Amino acid sequence: MSTWVEGTVVRLRKWTDELYSLQLKADIAPFTAGQFTRIALDINGERVARPYSFVNGPDNPLLEFYFIIVPHGPLTHHLIDLQPGAPVFIAPRGAGFFILDEVPAADNLWMLATGTAIGPFLSILATTEVWQRFKRIVLVHAVRTAEELTYSEEIRQLLAQHPEQLEFIPFVSREDTDFAIRGRVPDAIENGQLEARAGLTLNAETSQVMICGNPGMVRDTTAVLEACGLKKNKRRDPGQITTEQYWKD
Ligand SMILES: Cc1cc2nc3c(=O)[nH]c(=O)nc-3n(C[C@H](O)[C@H](O)[C@H](O)COP(=O)(O)OP(=O)(O)OC[C@H]3O[C@@H](n4cnc5c(N)ncnc54)[C@H](O)[C@@H]3O)c2cc1C
Ligand SMILES: NC(=O)c1ccc[n+]([C@@H]2O[C@H](COP(=O)([O-])OP(=O)(O)OC[C@H]3O[C@@H](n4cnc5c(N)ncnc54)[C@H](OP(=O)(O)O)[C@@H]3O)[C@@H](O)[C@H]2O)c1
Repeated sequence: MSTWVEGTVVRLRKWTDELYSLQLKADIAPFTAGQFTRIALDINGERVARPYSFVNGPDNPLLEFYFIIVPHGPLTHHLIDLQPGAPVFIAPRGAGFFILDEVPAADNLWMLATGTAIGPFLSILATTEVWQRFKRIVLVHAVRTAEELTYSEEIRQLLAQHPEQLEFIPFVSREDTDFAIRGRVPDAIENGQLEARAGLTLNAETSQVMICGNPGMVRDTTAVLEACGLKKNKRRDPGQITTEQYWKD
């Protein structure tokens, strides 16, 4: 199979001045929810490629990717110029191990995301498997400002479909709201605020935790969870903490 498949832009959805979702049609191999692919554009004669997590569930042929424009980022500034019908290169198959197959059995699944990393969790929540495997699921979306709590309609629909099973907990770190926890995820684990809001205990006996996004959040949250007795999940040494970071510190 060749390195790239040519896909076509269906829609670019603007959430805020920095946050966008790109919807594509492309003939790629089936992927597993939670995986990422690579998206590329030819910029000044060079093919510039970056990894992006699928937001759509594996059964949905409309591929979706959620991204933030990062200052001086070589690719993201060009992604926002794409018009419907424009060509985009995409890798022929998904990759990565941030998937349910890698997560051991447990009563409860905690999904902790910063910013654009809500994407792979929405893909996983679009599968039937996740609802069959876990009694309770806690979805955490941690952002700087309230307007960055995107995909709220999709999350509202999931809550309506799974009222007994799903808990959604927004975090907003840089402004006050009357609905979100103000601050950062590791602090709210340490001071008990997250468990209190979820109405569940986060411990090694009942919990699996998937963490995705900002590398500082992944690192600090892992450290706090390790202090509570949870450990990193490895194939040869199963634990409770499965992580993916979107860039390096
Ligand atoms: C496995 C994997 C999956 C990824 N999935 C996504 C995704 O679904 N959505 C997405 O927006 N990005 C995702 N990324 C990051 C993405 O690949 C790019 O790095 C990002 O879009 C910026 O591209 P760029 O070329 O403009 O700048 P780059 O040169 O790639 O990045 C420049 C800097 O921007 C910051 N940065 C990068 N990504 C983010 C981000 N998502 N949020 C905040 N700051 C960031 C970092 O400080 C980075 O060093 C993923 C990365 C990995 C490794
Ligand atoms: N979001 C914007 O409005 C905006 C605007 C322009 C450019 N950008 C660029 O986009 C990138 C970041 O955007 P972003 O808002 O998606 O991501 P982010 O910086 O990863 O912030 C998302 C959330 O993660 C929290 N966080 C950061 N470090 C953490 C840690 N060590 N432990 C726990 N929580 C942590 C943040 O809290 P804190 O708020 O406490 O850090 C925030 O609530 C940066 O490159 C930035 O320069 C963003």
